[in-house]
Amino acid sequence: MAKPRILLTRAWPEAVEARLARDYDAVLNREDTAMGTAEIGAALAEFDAVCPTVSDRLPAEIFTGGHRARILGNFGVGVNHIAVDAARTAGIEVTNTPGVLTDCTADLALTLMLMLARRAGEGEREVRAGRWSGWRPTHMIGARLSGKTLGIVGMGRIGLATARRAQAGFGMRVVYYNRSPVPAESLAGLDAARLDTVDQVMTAADVVSLHVPGGAGTAGLIDAERLALLGPEGFLVNTARGDVVDEAALVAALEAGAIAGAGLDVYADEPRVPEALTRRDDVVLLPHLGSATRETREAMGHMVADTLDAVFAGRDVPNRVG
Ligand code: DGY
Repeated sequence: MAKPRILLTRAWPEAVEARLARDYDAVLNREDTAMGTAEIGAALAEFDAVCPTVSDRLPAEIFTGGHRARILGNFGVGVNHIAVDAARTAGIEVTNTPGVLTDCTADLALTLMLMLARRAGEGEREVRAGRWSGWRPTHMIGARLSGKTLGIVGMGRIGLATARRAQAGFGMRVVYYNRSPVPAESLAGLDAARLDTVDQVMTAADVVSLHVPGGAGTAGLIDAERLALLGPEGFLVNTARGDVVDEAALVAALEAGAIAGAGLDVYADEPRVPEALTRRDDVVLLPHLGSATRETREAMGHMVADTLDAVFAGRDVPNRVG
C-alpha cells in the first residue's frame, strides 16, 4: 500500500524528519522557506496530511475547494493561525501538541519577568556598547520580585506552571483570572486567589503574565484601560499570542509612563515588531522562543508524528482541536 503523502511547511528537528521520511511519503522543507497561504491551500489537494506551524496562515477560504488532506497536524499548541471550524467543516481534522511545551514556555515567562524587573536586557546592552562606567549604589536599579503579586490571565497548563515557578522560586503571591473554574487538583499546592475579572487582576498585580489562546475570543483583551489599571510600577509579560495585547495602546502606555515595562515573546503580526517598541529600554523583546529548546521541539515533532501514525492506522485522533 502506498504510504500517505505528508507535507511539513517548515524545517523540523532532524530526528523527527528522519522518522517521518522513513514512515511516510514526506515532503520536507529543508531550506525552511516560508510558504504562502495559496501554496498551503494548494497542498491540501495534494497531500494526505499538511503539518503547519504558527508562522503559516490557514484562513477559511483555503478550505472551500476540493481536498485530499485528512489532517492538519499543527506543530505547536496554539492554533489561532488556522480557521479550525472551516477545516473541520471541510472534513479535515486539526490537531496540536499540548503539554510538551508547558515547562519551556513557563520558563520563558519567568525569564521575561526577571529580565524586566532586573533590567537585564538594558544592562547587557550597556556592557556590550562599552558604556558601563563601574559599580555604583544608584546604577540601574530594578525591582525585586519576591513579595510582589503575579497576576495570571488564563490559568491553563502554562499559566499554572508559570504561577508555580513564581511562587516556589521567587516567593510571589499569585492571583488569577480564568474564564471557567480551575479544577482543585490542578491548583494543589499552589496558593492562588481567583479573581472575578481581568480588570481585578490588572489592578491587584505588580506583574501580569498572559496565557490565553489569542484569536477572536481574546484579541485586544489588554487594551488602554486595562493597561492603566496595571499602574506605573506594573510589568506586562506576554508569551501567549501577540493579538491579545493592543500594541498601539501598549506603546502609548509605555510612552506615558502608565506602566513600568513589558516583556514580549509574541507580536500581533509576526515577525513585524512595532518599531516604537524596539527603541525603548523598558521593554524586553524576544523572537517567539517560548517552546524553543531542543528537547521540547523534538517532543512537539514526535507528538505530531504519533498523531499522524494514529490517524493513518485508523485509530482515534489524539490531540484533536475544536
Ligand atoms: C505554540 O506552540 O503555540 C507556540 O507558540 C509556537 O510553537
